[in-house]
Amino acid sequence: MNSRELRERYINFFISKGHKRIPSASVVPENDPTVLFTTAGMHPLVPYLLGEKHPEGARLTSVQKCVRTGDIEDVGDSTHNTFFEMLGNWSLGDYFKDESIRWSFEFLTDEKYLGIDPKRLKVTVFEGDEDAPKDEESIKIWQECFASVGIEAKVWDGKNNEEAKIFPLPKDDNWWGPAGITGPCGPDTEIFIDLGKSTNYDTCPNGSDCKPGCHCGRYVEIWNNVFMQYNKNAEGGFEPLSQQNVDTGMGLERTLAMLNGFDNIYESDVLKPIVDKVKELSNTPLTPTLSPKSEGEIQNTAKGDGELQDAEKNKAARIVADHIRTSVFMISDGVVPSNLDRGYILRRLIRRAIRSARNLQTQEKFLIELVDVILGIYGEEYPALIENKTKIIDELEKEEEKFGKTLEMGLRELEKLEDINGEKAFNIFQTYGFPYEMIIEEIEKRGMEFDSIKLKDEFDESFHNHQDLSRTASAGKFKGGLADNSEETTRLHTAAHLLLQALRLVLGDHVFQKGSNITAERLRFDFSHPEKMTDEEKKKVEAIVNEQIKKALPVRCEEMGLEDAKRLGAMGVFESKYGEKVKVYVMGDDEKGVFSKEICGGPHVENTSELGRFRIAKEESSSAGVRRIKAVLE
Ligand code: ALA
Repeated sequence: MNSRELRERYINFFISKGHKRIPSASVVPENDPTVLFTTAGMHPLVPYLLGEKHPEGARLTSVQKCVRTGDIEDVGDSTHNTFFEMLGNWSLGDYFKDESIRWSFEFLTDEKYLGIDPKRLKVTVFEGDEDAPKDEESIKIWQECFASVGIEAKVWDGKNNEEAKIFPLPKDDNWWGPAGITGPCGPDTEIFIDLGKSTNYDTCPNGSDCKPGCHCGRYVEIWNNVFMQYNKNAEGGFEPLSQQNVDTGMGLERTLAMLNGFDNIYESDVLKPIVDKVKELSNTPLTPTLSPKSEGEIQNTAKGDGELQDAEKNKAARIVADHIRTSVFMISDGVVPSNLDRGYILRRLIRRAIRSARNLQTQEKFLIELVDVILGIYGEEYPALIENKTKIIDELEKEEEKFGKTLEMGLRELEKLEDINGEKAFNIFQTYGFPYEMIIEEIEKRGMEFDSIKLKDEFDESFHNHQDLSRTASAGKFKGGLADNSEETTRLHTAAHLLLQALRLVLGDHVFQKGSNITAERLRFDFSHPEKMTDEEKKKVEAIVNEQIKKALPVRCEEMGLEDAKRLGAMGVFESKYGEKVKVYVMGDDEKGVFSKEICGGPHVENTSELGRFRIAKEESSSAGVRRIKAVLE
């Protein structure tokens, strides 16, 4: 089955169940600076999951373009990519678990649709905790579905991994959302295909504990049905929503791979022609069928072994295909390469692709040829790509040229060096964007002597020192003029976090911070909101902030990867690079309730009780759609 057939079958199936098809939204989310890209079909539907009426009704279905770059380092293995299409269906307060699960089972197993052998399916459900009960209802519905095809679906008892069909698992596995700090979320049931023990099972790190959710590759998740019946509130509690929703997502590439018996997504018709083109344009011969498993595996084996070099090359070809495909979609949706946010991610993708392409010695102008292949695959489904062809090629070529110049300058600098150390390598990396791996290649070529472990350690140290500096600098910039760390500014800075959350609670989730400026005397805070605040709204905001001060919330700082921070629902501007750690300031705790989580460089007070009394001195317009508050602590 090819991608076009799968999309059509999915959409037509749900249309036959009373759904209306809605178009894919842009990969750039509208009005939501807390997320850089659309990562799931539900993003554009958040207001409707919370109760707004959708013009197309209460049953919707779509194919949504999604970008997820959190696992970029894993791209090139069998299942990871940075762009994918999500097939989804939604109930906005209409049907719930019963229809959702039965339809999934029907679509997956009925010969008329996907015809997957039900023996190969395993599912997980939410095991229950203090926030929500065990999902007995889903267990019962699944058992009925399996019984209808003569299968007794046993529930996992902690031991019977091979015979069990239904696995109750904790929140980490079987809870989805919210996408932001607050919002719709709920328990989910995830559907896996069991590839059997023939796969990586013998090397599975979990041994006989391997079960759905394990990452060894035996179980491939293809569909997630979320029962969105809770709203996570600002205190971290889960309150029932006014309506019970269903939000599902099925990964197109993975499902295609499963249906066609491929062991990796790159064999599917949306990726294979791109990978093949990269190989065709490469001046280094490649074997077609190797399936590199992980970077670690490749690196751990000595070079010089012909087969493994091929695996590396195949992986490089996949990286080029994946990254350029994602870049094409991003540019078509209006992103341009830059040093900030979305533009920075796009720049990194293009440059990573070019580097991999250089390792494959691809011919010049390979980018244009790849764009043609990508447009050939997707042009019919996404006609905007064709309309934007010139822009796409233009941006890619400009970036290639810039990167080329950067590398040239870096090379010249490298040539001047008599010797190398971590700091020198870092300076070249930092000033010219010259990748570390290429620095090593160059100095090796020139026969320079160096201790590779020491050099890497020193380089990493310079890298981290620099990151700490730039983090503080960008936090300062973001917080606008928190120039001195006097007690007064620190207190006002903490107040700014409380203010943002209070504004969101009173005015709504459309409120985001647009800037701030803090002096020892006052806090100036800009935020998105279309109209003047009423006196009552201002009073409410003040009261909420003062309540949090009275509660004496502890303030603590946690360091984590950016993706984890996003998953945690932390607010903030994500000016971060891949893999970089960010600081998240959390105000509140389990006992008193978590009130605010923001990515921020600090500093902050240790307890909100240090703030005194918060007062809004003025509320005025700042620019179109942006309001400005001046506030003081008394
Ligand atoms: N929103 C759910 C997901 O992304 C369906 O898995």
